[in-house]
Amino acid sequence: MGFRKDFLWGGATAANQVEGGVFEGGRGLANVDLMPYGSERYSVGTGMKHSSRIEEGVLYPSHTAVDFYHHYKEDIGLFAQMGFRCFRMSIAWTRIFPKGDETEPNEEGLKFYEDVFLECRKYGIEPLVTICHFDCPMHLVETIGGWRSRKMIDHYVRLSRVLFERYKGLVRYWLTFNEINMILHFPFVAAGLKFEEGENRYQAMITAAHHELIASAIVTKLAHKIDPENMVGCMVAAGSYYPETCHPNDYWKALCDNRETYMFIDVQSRGYYPPYALKWIEGKNAVIPFKDGDEDILKQNTVDFISFSYYSSRVSSAEPDKGKQTESNIFASVVNPYLESSEWGWQIDPLGFRITINELYDRYQKPLFVVENGLGAKDVIEEDGSINDEYRIDYLRRHIQAMKDAVDLDGVDLLGYTTWGCIDLISNGTGEMEKRYGFIYVDRDNLGNGTMKRMKKKSADWYRQVIESNGEKL
Ligand code: BG6
Repeated sequence: MGFRKDFLWGGATAANQVEGGVFEGGRGLANVDLMPYGSERYSVGTGMKHSSRIEEGVLYPSHTAVDFYHHYKEDIGLFAQMGFRCFRMSIAWTRIFPKGDETEPNEEGLKFYEDVFLECRKYGIEPLVTICHFDCPMHLVETIGGWRSRKMIDHYVRLSRVLFERYKGLVRYWLTFNEINMILHFPFVAAGLKFEEGENRYQAMITAAHHELIASAIVTKLAHKIDPENMVGCMVAAGSYYPETCHPNDYWKALCDNRETYMFIDVQSRGYYPPYALKWIEGKNAVIPFKDGDEDILKQNTVDFISFSYYSSRVSSAEPDKGKQTESNIFASVVNPYLESSEWGWQIDPLGFRITINELYDRYQKPLFVVENGLGAKDVIEEDGSINDEYRIDYLRRHIQAMKDAVDLDGVDLLGYTTWGCIDLISNGTGEMEKRYGFIYVDRDNLGNGTMKRMKKKSADWYRQVIESNGEKL
């Protein structure tokens, strides 16, 4: 058995975390360009601290990132050496529409991505494109409040139409929004939301989520119309919640926490808000800003496949204050005493991966695509120039085995696997460079110093063998 013959092995990135070149090619400014390095990053990302312009003396890691903008040929060449069959990347919206509301796209931006896709095709690498991976034009944040405005739907649909038409035949796999459930955790990053003191934040987040869900459904239809070969997926930050104990209260809490993730896929995959979601929203004193026709749009345009990121399982407790919390800011959870943790306090749980995959497949019975998984760790360059990242190999080996079990032993239909940050990139959560995920090392530090030179790590060769053997040689 094993993985399907055409299994899409590869790696994943996002524009704002790799490209740099923020002031080149006519690109406009986006929310992600205002995410600072340092202690204020979290409060800006959650929309609590407002940031509208670039400030002197502040480091914004996305501005140079790892300069994929100028290194893409070299980088894709390195991916090809590892045998990648797929490369997940995202479009920087403001390269195509610098302000977001123009009627005509920026040709230089379109050309850049066309060149990137052609470079992939040269090596037989299938691009998997996230239309929106945490970026929103700053002009739209400032003028209409980001995704709290329904006008965002038109702007997003215009962007998508341009992409589908221009890249027809070059790109077949599309994801509408990266980790759409991130709206509830990092809302400035996920939806360009800034909050006023005392406002019902849930109302703004639910409004933005509804707009993104409608936009996602509209462009799913559009993608199919422009090219029936197109496959469109939704994307969530997954990782099942376990109850801290077998106390029914803990089990109930875990069920509710899991629903917070499912809620989004339920709409995108089944085509309607499930009753528990409607009640949850009501309980937050919020309303979904439904307009005539919305229900039909959702119902008639569900996704072709379900994609997700998985880094760790999580733990729910009815009394979370009693337990020790993990260090991760965005998805903090109660610490699971049975698991080890990464240097950043992310818990490592390969069986949790198999559990998550199964829970998603049981629920939706649609093909799944793992589009992010990996270990953020510090790497050391030895005197001879080698980088022996055995810990990364170990993490990936165990996770790929778990994924294989889900396919072989549980019968899950899996389309592919792209590891996160196949080339070192800027961390979304912390803005650090030293939290490295890659098979390819990039010489750049947290403060932006370095030559940007690329070097293969030990894991690159290991992953090449994994792909070559279609997951048999781990
Ligand atoms: C996901 C995002 O949340 O996790 C990525 O889609 C992100 O953009 C990744 O980089 C890993 O998180 P971090 O905080 O280590 O970069």
